[in-house]
Amino acid sequence: NKFTPAKPAGARSVDDVTGSRRLRRMRKADWSRRLVQENRLSVDDLIWPIFVVEGRNVREPIAAMPGVFRLSVDLAVKEAERAAKLGIPALATFPNVDLGLRDQTGSHILDPENIINRATRAIKEAVPEIGIITDAALDPFTSHGHDGILRDGIIVNDETVEQVAAAAVIQAAAGADIIAPSDMMDGRIGAIRDALDANGFQDVAIMSYATKFASAFYGPYREAVGTAGLLKGDKKTYYIDHANSDEAVREAEQDIAEGADMLMVKPGLPYLDIIRRLKDEFQMPTFAYQVSGEYSMIKAAGANGWIDGEKAMLESLLAFKRAGCDGILTYFAPEVAEMLKG
Ligand code: PBG
Repeated sequence: NKFTPAKPAGARSVDDVTGSRRLRRMRKADWSRRLVQENRLSVDDLIWPIFVVEGRNVREPIAAMPGVFRLSVDLAVKEAERAAKLGIPALATFPNVDLGLRDQTGSHILDPENIINRATRAIKEAVPEIGIITDAALDPFTSHGHDGILRDGIIVNDETVEQVAAAAVIQAAAGADIIAPSDMMDGRIGAIRDALDANGFQDVAIMSYATKFASAFYGPYREAVGTAGLLKGDKKTYYIDHANSDEAVREAEQDIAEGADMLMVKPGLPYLDIIRRLKDEFQMPTFAYQVSGEYSMIKAAGANGWIDGEKAMLESLLAFKRAGCDGILTYFAPEVAEMLKG
């Protein structure tokens, strides 16, 4: 370029090819790397998914998720207090429901006294400043582990939507701030919005699991909520084929039209292209769910000394920010929040 001073004849260097640009200049010291850093991870980006179970003072390890526990409501409240002190904005709660309470239609999701609604009330009472996100999907409540009502081998859409919308109202009544339906039935966002509005919950938000892919990375979660042994077949008739990207855009577009306040992409790291596409296309608040399998892979490789687990954790979370995420649901949330504080 014309601003490049002429070189003495014969002095060949990288500048002959790149002009006077040397990208390594700004990488040479910690202070200059910090100065030009484009994306940052903050505690404000974190949503912490937790698992709740019946009992008192229960803290059950989950074999496939080292460092993650199923907590009875009293201990979940303690963890919520800890999360609030760390500055984590919100929790997402998932239940491990007693087997005897699961049935073909997941009817126990409609019980205002079920474990999820009790957890919401207890946490909201003790820690009102933390946001509570509940999932209105049926899978932890069904005897077959599917996210919908199963009839003659088919997950029936519209009847499931009715039940999911009714569950959302009950969760909102218990104090949930955000309803995040993970079931991928068609029309659920509009139905939930209508049901919430009709019952006076206009201010309860919806985070749509807009693009949830049929994935192998959910395995450890299914152990956590106890659906692993129950689930027959797969979820390919309702989750998105992981080969597809245009379809993900259509899903998100539809959920926005139906009233979604926020979008989520799930799983996370294998789907950074989807996150970027949705952010560019819609400019909506966009979240990634770094799912159980992603968490466990990093934990396992770290525990074996094959990778530096802490660095891999931070790198993966920052990758979500770079891809366009406003926040991340991650089981690493308290660990990361502690690190960011220190
Ligand atoms: C189902 C649901 C899943 C997760 C949360 N809710 C997936 C599934 O079991 O098919 C996965 C979360 C994770 O893997 O961390 N509605």
